[in-house]
Amino acid sequence: MPSAQVINNKDGAIYTTSNGAPVNEPYAAQRAGILGPLLLQDFYHIDLLAHFDRERIPERVVHAKGAGAHGYFEVTHDLSDITSQTLFKSVGKKVRATVRFSTVGGESGSADTARDPRGFAIKLKTDEGILDWVFNNTPVFFIRDPAKFPHFIHTQKRDPQTHLKDPDMFWDYLSQNPESIHQILILFSDRGTPDGFHQGHGYSGHTFKWLKDDGSFVYVQVHTLDNATAGRLAGENPDYGTQTLFETIEAGKFPTWTVYIQTMTPEQAEKFRYNILDLTKIWPHGEYPLRPIGKLVLNENPQNYFAEIEQSAFSPSHLIPYIEPSADPVLQSRLFSYPDTHRHRLGSNYQQLPVNVPLNPVANFQRDGPATFVSQGPRPNYVSTIQTLSYAVYKGAIDASVRDLDREAHHENFVGGAYRDLSEVTELDFEQPRALWSKVWNNQQREAYVQNVAGHFGNVKSAEIKARQLSVWAAVDQGLSDRIAKAIGHNPVKPLQVKPASEAVKFRAFLGFATFNPFG
Ligand code: HEM
Repeated sequence: MPSAQVINNKDGAIYTTSNGAPVNEPYAAQRAGILGPLLLQDFYHIDLLAHFDRERIPERVVHAKGAGAHGYFEVTHDLSDITSQTLFKSVGKKVRATVRFSTVGGESGSADTARDPRGFAIKLKTDEGILDWVFNNTPVFFIRDPAKFPHFIHTQKRDPQTHLKDPDMFWDYLSQNPESIHQILILFSDRGTPDGFHQGHGYSGHTFKWLKDDGSFVYVQVHTLDNATAGRLAGENPDYGTQTLFETIEAGKFPTWTVYIQTMTPEQAEKFRYNILDLTKIWPHGEYPLRPIGKLVLNENPQNYFAEIEQSAFSPSHLIPYIEPSADPVLQSRLFSYPDTHRHRLGSNYQQLPVNVPLNPVANFQRDGPATFVSQGPRPNYVSTIQTLSYAVYKGAIDASVRDLDREAHHENFVGGAYRDLSEVTELDFEQPRALWSKVWNNQQREAYVQNVAGHFGNVKSAEIKARQLSVWAAVDQGLSDRIAKAIGHNPVKPLQVKPASEAVKFRAFLGFATFNPFG
């Protein structure tokens, strides 16, 4: 190969092959003679095409369209009264953050202005590993039974035959699973079309447990709240959220959120009107006030979208000491689903990609596999006798496991027989949506909701689905249902009949471990 001359490129680069050898003429391919076939010896050309052929990785099965940026999370308040996690005791401490915003249902090329919840995923690189907060911009969710998730998501994907999206599929599912109604109120309010990605709020939705060394814990929900009110989006640009996030950061106007938690003691959780493991419910701020914990700032655009945002891999199971999942069944399913999809989407060494790798040294017994970037050098690949376990454990866990805990009081009595866990809809499920409709919203918000719903729901073809979903709205409020019926030219429909609130499964009844045989 002749040696390369420096080419005066826009970026000043000397083009190279993938093995770094200089390339003079990037457009050229080697041929036999002037008009002959191409040569197998032309590594540059073959390498160019072979890599191009492999450019695509699977897109996320949900949340495929997104945008992101980097920044930091700063601890502003001491939380040592509720957790022994060092980070939340270190006021002033900043850790690196990567955030990815997304819509949920659409493909990676879809409009980021769609009516949809917005994902708000936050990766915090702490001194004790990665803590991911994989949030949405709504405090509740469509389901509380995780096995419904693929069904519900499929109703927003393309029809298996027509390859078209179909409002009948969407409303067919919702009308048969009315626990979704709280989220449907929020989604079809103007909060379902926020102004860009970075002006919204984020909510854990799920309940987590934050612990202390003495074994005590509180239940926690996390919220990232911004100062701006997310207004209704005007404009047709399908990349509006992506573009405004990038341009806002480039202009030095760094998006900032205050991070709060709501906490509940185990005793409060047992007395709470709703099941704290039910993702369709909120914790009223009046009873469980917001407590500020820190600040999230995005001040750095990615240099390369694919490497730093597309390859980011968030999971609710990426937790750090003293922060634990609750028994919320949807959360429990998510603990599995995210690392599983990352292994498929990015490979089994996805945690070693630069955007995902912890800042603290990783020492474990995972070895090799495709694209191993982080070498553990000569470290033993098994627990050798000369190693002590002391470096890896956190005191609370060990103490708690040996201490004679009152497991009942600590909500740890996960013993007993198999339990088939599927929730039932009761009158309790309509209380919070009813309060939203009749107490929280003003007339203008109510009218916007009716119009937003009519625009989508009005496209449903099936009379059965229409009547059934109208009966769900009627169970929230007859006036609400009647207004939607009128807007789409339908007769009024009576409320769906459900069990009384007294028959709802109480929180403690959820403490059985689900090991049921699905075929039984
Ligand atoms: C993305 C599964 C519920 C927030 C994803 C992905 C999967 C998934 C497979 C793609 C991840 C990837 O390819 O990187 C599930 C399952 C759920 C569930 C099985 C319920 C059983 C939720 C809930 C929330 C949520 C309740 C919010 C409270 C997100 C966010 C992303 C995501 C923000 C995008 C993360 C990113 O930007 O990379 N989910 N999800 N999901 N999910 Fe869920």
